[in-house]
Order: sequence, then structure tokens, then C-alpha cells
Amino acid sequence: MASVQGFSRSWLVTNKREMTTSVSPAITVRDLNFQWPNGKTVLDRCSLDVPRGEFWMLLGTNGCGKSTLLRLLAGLLPLADREAAQVAGRVGFVFQNPDHQLVMPTVGADVAFGLVEQGLSYREVRDRVEDALTLVNLAHLIERPIYALSGGQKQRVAIAGAIAQHCDVLLLDEPTALLDPESQIDLVERVRDIVRDRGMTALWVTHRLDELNYCNGAFLLESGQTIDRGDPERLKLRFLQGQT
Ligand SMILES: Nc1ncnc2c1ncn2[C@@H]1O[C@H](COP(=O)(O)OP(=O)(O)OP(=O)(O)O)[C@@H](O)[C@H]1O
Ligand SMILES: [Mg+2]
Repeated sequence: MASVQGFSRSWLVTNKREMTTSVSPAITVRDLNFQWPNGKTVLDRCSLDVPRGEFWMLLGTNGCGKSTLLRLLAGLLPLADREAAQVAGRVGFVFQNPDHQLVMPTVGADVAFGLVEQGLSYREVRDRVEDALTLVNLAHLIERPIYALSGGQKQRVAIAGAIAQHCDVLLLDEPTALLDPESQIDLVERVRDIVRDRGMTALWVTHRLDELNYCNGAFLLESGQTIDRGDPERLKLRFLQGQT
């Protein structure tokens, strides 16, 4: 099961379970229950599968448990039943607010964060950082201070950090919430392309329905349960109907 590694920032986690067959889902949630210590039930027999190599989105009203589910999958919250939420491979987490995630003074240093402690050589660290920044189209800003980036660029640095760690599964919790519409669409297109080109898997939480145009499929969460899954267009309509 996923566990937080001591040597790197909290959103980088490693699943020590062996990868199974190529057709098994990358993310498996089965009858997952979660209560806060105050007794509030957030997830109630929640189940979902994200197929390996696909880009799926998680939709639901405020407070229905989306962030809690992502945190449980990343090992950032403790699981009572470890079998109930499983991720195959290494996990990268992207938060809503990149200022809560980026910890180093410059772009290159932030993407390299944690790689040296993994025992990688200087050359390997440099190659991974350059590769990851090229993928998010920020290689030209490798020396730029973090404070001099736009919100969209910061989110791309956060994603490059996960890619440099060679993560297999990306969990993104409303990564476009603070972005303007142009940066929003740029980010969602970029993640779609990275998932496709790198054979990664991603689960992306959103409230912004236009983002569903870019995913392979979606889940609709309500009161801690997955009440629908599949075709993004159908789920958009169902979500809108639930809002009226
Ligand atoms: N640390 C906490 N202690 C107790 N309750 C919490 C805690 N964090 C969140 N909650 C509650 O758990 C429920 C689910 O929260 P969660 O953040 O998972 O919802 P969400 O679907 O991500 O909502 P949003 O769309 O607003 O981000 C909410 O009722 C929230 O108030
Ligand atoms: Mg949330």
C-alpha cells in the first residue's frame, strides 16, 4: 500500500505492492469507508476503478469527499482497510494551490527536490529534471525563481516534480481552481498528452465541466459514494441536473 517516503515531500509516495497484469486498473477503490475522528462519515462504501494508462476525472458537489478520497489514495490520510484503496506504482500528488507544494527557490531546484536523496547521480538528476521540464514546456525557465512564475506555470512545475520522480499515477486535486480559463485549458490538455505519451494514469478532481471534454471517463461522487461512472458527456448532464 502507499506509504509516505521520509526523504521526499509529502505528496510523493511509493506503492510497494507489485504491479500485477497490464490489464488491471491502476487505481482500485472497493467499498472504502472513511470517518473523521469527530464521527462524520465522508466515504460510505465508495468504489471505483481507473483503467491503467487513462485520464479520468472525479466530479461532485462541495464536501462530498473528493479530496478525502484522493488523500487516502496517496497515503496522506490513514486507511483502516489497506485493501480498500490501492494504487499500482508510484504516486504523484498535485494540490489545488501550488504555493502549498513548491518548496525550493527556483524551478530546477524544486523539480530536483528529493531526487538526490534517492541516491541518483548528479547527471541522472539533471537529465530527469530537464526531461520533466521539457514535457511541461518549462525547460527555458529552469533557473527562474518560483516567485516569478504565473499560477499555471507553478502547477506545471508541480507536475514536472512528479514526473521527475517517475511516478506512474498522478492524482490532481482541482489543479486549475486558481487559474484563468486560458491557463486552465492549457494545463488540462498538457496533462492529457503526458498521460497518453508516457503511459501514465491520472485522476483529476474538478468542478469545471469544460475540463471533462479532455478525459477518458469520469466518476460522479455524491455523499461519499460513486453514483455514476463512464461517459463524461452523460455525467456532465447528470451533474447539472443534480444542481437544479
Ligand atoms: N480535517 C477534517 N476534520 C473533519 N472534517 C473534515 C476535515 N477535512 C474535511 N472535512 C469534512 O469532510 C467532508 C469532505 O471533505 P472533502 O474536502 O473531501 O470534500 P470535497 O468533495 O473535496 O469538497 P470541495 O469540492 O469543497 O473541495 C466535508 O464535509 C468537510 O467539511
Ligand atoms: Mg476538495
